[in-house]
Amino acid sequence: MVEIAPSLLSADFSRLEQEIGDIEQLGIKMLHLDVMDGHFVPNITFGPGLINSLRPLSKMIFDVHLMIEQPERYVVDFVKAGADIVTVHVEAAVHLHRLLALIKEQGVKAAVALNPATPLSSIEWILPQLDMVLLMSVNPGFGGQAFIPEAVAKIRALKTMMKEQGIEIPIQVDGGINRDTAPLVVEAGAEILVAGSAVFGQRDRGDAIRQILKGVAMVRE
Ligand code: DX5
Ligand code: ZN
Repeated sequence: MVEIAPSLLSADFSRLEQEIGDIEQLGIKMLHLDVMDGHFVPNITFGPGLINSLRPLSKMIFDVHLMIEQPERYVVDFVKAGADIVTVHVEAAVHLHRLLALIKEQGVKAAVALNPATPLSSIEWILPQLDMVLLMSVNPGFGGQAFIPEAVAKIRALKTMMKEQGIEIPIQVDGGINRDTAPLVVEAGAEILVAGSAVFGQRDRGDAIRQILKGVAMVRE
């Protein structure tokens, strides 16, 4: 099953309650929340306080993508705020194994994100600990950037690596996903598509979601 996880980053921050309600009504089950600290990435977004305020407004899965340094310092806060999935960057983790255990101890799902230049070998030995892998198809920091095409081969290679280890967890792709690039990543094996500008950036979100799913359905037939 292919799922779209709209990224709140491209929503209108002056009316978040309506924005969230809008996509939930359209059948979206997962909301992607991009947390940026101005250090790991050159942009600052929001923290646990905002997520905590949004939590009572929605039943969607809160998929929290931490683009922050020293993620181990904040994991517990984000879970308390309402995260259902916590994704940390392999590049930001010194003791990744310990960090993933900490996330799991909080009773939520643990995922790891890889920047475009980061090799898959960086997660080879911790795959069994993961609930999801996020492959970045842009350099993290901003919405609306162009898809990096090498991500397609990387998804394929990850799929192979997972098969070799007998692991079946979803691959999530984030960055530059739209109706043109979605079929490419799904064909390669991605199941969860993060889309910021291609959903929240569009006037008609229903139509935007339908168009993406339509293209994807064709490659999965
Ligand atoms: C980028 C973020 C993305 C971003 C995607 O650093 O991790 O989730 O919101 O935006 P689009 O879909 O516009 O590339
Ligand atoms: Zn993201």
